[in-house]
Amino acid sequence: MNIRHFVPDDFEHVLSIEQKIFSDHDPLVYINFYELNMNGFLVAEENGVIIGFVVGYQLNENEGRIFSLAVENEYKSRGIGTQLIHAILKIFYENSFQYASLEVRMSNVRAQKLYKRVGFVPCWVEKKYYLDGEDGVIMKIRISPQYLLYAMDNPLQKQVIPITNGPVFHTPDSI
Ligand SMILES: CC(C)(COP(=O)(O)OP(=O)(O)OC[C@H]1O[C@@H](n2cnc3c(N)ncnc32)[C@H](O)[C@@H]1OP(=O)(O)O)[C@@H](O)C(=O)NCCC(=O)NCCS
Repeated sequence: MNIRHFVPDDFEHVLSIEQKIFSDHDPLVYINFYELNMNGFLVAEENGVIIGFVVGYQLNENEGRIFSLAVENEYKSRGIGTQLIHAILKIFYENSFQYASLEVRMSNVRAQKLYKRVGFVPCWVEKKYYLDGEDGVIMKIRISPQYLLYAMDNPLQKQVIPITNGPVFHTPDSI
């Protein structure tokens, strides 16, 4: 499995994964992401087939936002989602962002578990964030070089390296 930047020829495969997995994404958004933000669009490829992708962008001066993450059903639970997250965090770090954030459906326990394992902390709930009225959980992580070095060598690491400086995010009691 290889993680690399998205190229236009990948578009059909990315959309086919996207349409299977997400109900409320607009395919045009992915074209826009590619045109405006090529650096933050990564795909996971195995034997020439796209099996997952992650899209991130600059939210503000210090923060990258993960817009979308998906892995083909038959390739799940092999660590590909985790490696895509590590790869986008590395790109955020290279762009001098100190933090990364994302939003995830309240019901998406599997993805939340992955994000927590990587080191993201649930910070607050956006009420009715999604078109179908479901709440979204905003999760954040402080990106440190030590963390990235460790994560790249241990893609399925279960322990999070303690963050020693900068703000630490705390989970409110309600999440
Ligand atoms: C969320 C999603 C991207 C995760 O992708 P994934 O490739 O299955 O994720 P990983 O394999 O890295 O991690 C999933 C689990 O597999 C386990 N795993 C991975 N590789 C493994 C291996 N070689 N041996 C044993 N277990 C393994 C991980 O430890 C993890 O277990 P845990 O959830 O109990 O901690 C995927 O389920 C998906 O596409 N979901 C639908 C879209 C979605 O929800 N996106 C997020 C929206 S915010």
